[in-house]
Amino acid sequence: MSGNVSTPANLKITSRDLAFGRQGPSPRHWLGGDPIATAFYNALSASFPQGERFFMDAVRAFKSKADPKLQDQITSFVTQEALHTREHVFFNQLITGAGYDLSRMDAVIKKRLGFGRTRSKIEQLGATIALEHFTAILAHEALANPAHFADATPEARRMWKWHAIEEIEHKSVAFDTFLAATRDLPGWQRYFIRVRTMVAATLLFLEFLVRGVRDLFKQDGINTFASWRKMFAFVLYRPGMLGRVIPAYLTYYKPSFHPWEEDDRGLIAETEAALNLQAKAA
Ligand SMILES: [Fe+2]
Ligand SMILES: [Fe+2]
Repeated sequence: MSGNVSTPANLKITSRDLAFGRQGPSPRHWLGGDPIATAFYNALSASFPQGERFFMDAVRAFKSKADPKLQDQITSFVTQEALHTREHVFFNQLITGAGYDLSRMDAVIKKRLGFGRTRSKIEQLGATIALEHFTAILAHEALANPAHFADATPEARRMWKWHAIEEIEHKSVAFDTFLAATRDLPGWQRYFIRVRTMVAATLLFLEFLVRGVRDLFKQDGINTFASWRKMFAFVLYRPGMLGRVIPAYLTYYKPSFHPWEEDDRGLIAETEAALNLQAKAA
């Protein structure tokens, strides 16, 4: 059911315990002085701390089903996501420090994830692999296309690209955990769980983004048709963070899908060197 592709045997998952933006406050519109572009990434960042905690719990619940190698990867995955949570909590404090109120978004996420936690453990893992596919393809696009963060403040650019590097590195951990956890189920049933949870995750993710952006637009006094038109252009084609990942998104619906069909580790080394994002020596 997982096709011919699997996780590269020599995959390394490294935790880069780096801190970003501690020098001082961030400009309110940190992405090119543009409230539209900034609102998109601020809404995304608002979702991360609680979202990533949900992922960690969903994967850890099945650790005992994993072989020793995958168990090690789960440990590395959890360490990376915990660091991402720490840095997005800080980034969200910068957003708040710049005058935005994220409390309504926090409450919405809490409610959605609270509902998620009432579902079966396997469905929670299903939602996690779906959202990890989102983060992996967005991360690929963030690193492959310099246009996305070209106008960001240098520290914001480093933070988002650091997160992207690690999302690529650990993109198969939740997925392989799902394969291990469901190995006794018939193939069609595993596929059905994957598709059902992806459809639900996609709708919830997009609904959250629209809601979060609307909240931020209101706070900037720009919740107008013109702003939304600019937002659609921004996310779909100029530079198109969401529009450009549609083909990669759709690969998830192939029964044989595996995250390492696209081996994009070359982007990691390149970005680490360009932005000085190597792990600190122990
Ligand atoms: Fe993450
Ligand atoms: Fe992740």
